[in-house]
Amino acid sequence: MDLEKRVNEIFHELVEIRRDFHMYPELSEKEYRTSSKICDYLSEWGIEHIKGVAKTGVVAIIRGKKEGITVGARADIDALPIMEANVLPYKSLNEGVMHACGHDVHTAIHLGVAKILKEMEDELEGNVKIFFQPAEETVGGAKSMIDEGHLKNPNVEYILSLHVMPQLDAGYIELKYGKLNASANEFFIKLTGKSSHAAYPEESIDPVVVSAHVVLGLQSIVSRNISPLNSVVVTIGQIHGGVKNNIIPGEVTISGTLRTLDEESRTYAMKRIREIAESTARAYGAKALVEFDEDGYPVLINDDEVVDVIKDIGEETLGKDKVSFKELPSLGADDFSFFLEKVRGAYYFLGCGNKSKNWTAPIHSENFKVDEECLKVGVLLQTKGILRLLKMR
Ligand code: NI
Repeated sequence: MDLEKRVNEIFHELVEIRRDFHMYPELSEKEYRTSSKICDYLSEWGIEHIKGVAKTGVVAIIRGKKEGITVGARADIDALPIMEANVLPYKSLNEGVMHACGHDVHTAIHLGVAKILKEMEDELEGNVKIFFQPAEETVGGAKSMIDEGHLKNPNVEYILSLHVMPQLDAGYIELKYGKLNASANEFFIKLTGKSSHAAYPEESIDPVVVSAHVVLGLQSIVSRNISPLNSVVVTIGQIHGGVKNNIIPGEVTISGTLRTLDEESRTYAMKRIREIAESTARAYGAKALVEFDEDGYPVLINDDEVVDVIKDIGEETLGKDKVSFKELPSLGADDFSFFLEKVRGAYYFLGCGNKSKNWTAPIHSENFKVDEECLKVGVLLQTKGILRLLKMR
């Protein structure tokens, strides 16, 4: 099959599909319409699929007519609680919800990949599984899909995923060997003191004062406990406490996020967060209860051999000057890391910006826009990547 030609033929259809998802974005774990639309397209194209995976996810399976291994690809499908500020004919119609992370694009690309590979099933050597994954932005739908056994029967040997990147124009991609994204864990600290009238602080154990010491103390983990050559983030995103200016409250809660680039630092920073919160509280006569989310994301580590496959395909398809390498990892996180813990694979960035039109607003912004030409690039690279990995054995 002439892949370039076929991608051009279905491009218009993929744009329509993407715009439909864009108009009806759904939050994590609530991707009901999205999921049912994905199933409708797959059924229309005669593609075998399992619905209700990790509640609102879908797994599509294309069984090649020739023997071979199984290669996977993953698209995340959820949107964000953001009010879209763009003026577009296909602007979000679900008020306060927006595909501001481009998961509408990821979903449309992988539907395109599934459609083309299904058309090639007679010549396909092996199987392809496409994971339409829910809840990337919140609880990590990837982990549930894996826990439900979808990497097995047939066993997935390699897996690919991509993410749109508006800082790069459509037609460009960015790759990275090895560590790409950070681990992410949320933490919650409840400080309990004793409330009193603001005029009689001696009768209180003031958790507001304790919280100030805890917040400052936590900042010493990165500056004093971690090597300056290593990268860790401890960010406090929320502090809540009190109801009135003349009352010392009985309780203050602090929550934040911890990001690291290796398991050792992750375990160590978690231990320090606990120690600092508990002992600081004790020093002031208060109590600290420290909890971490159980479903934090692990570090995302690419397989260098698979990255080379995408590099070669990218250079052949787009030109050498369109493929660049990221030098340093990012402290962002993506739950695709759960797949890469189990299967060799690669995650890379797909340019979706357009500097000449000034479409460069970052992901998670109310002005995020996409040059839809990136749909073509995404379908081509993912399809070619899967075909090449099927031959790796
Ligand atoms: Ni995203």
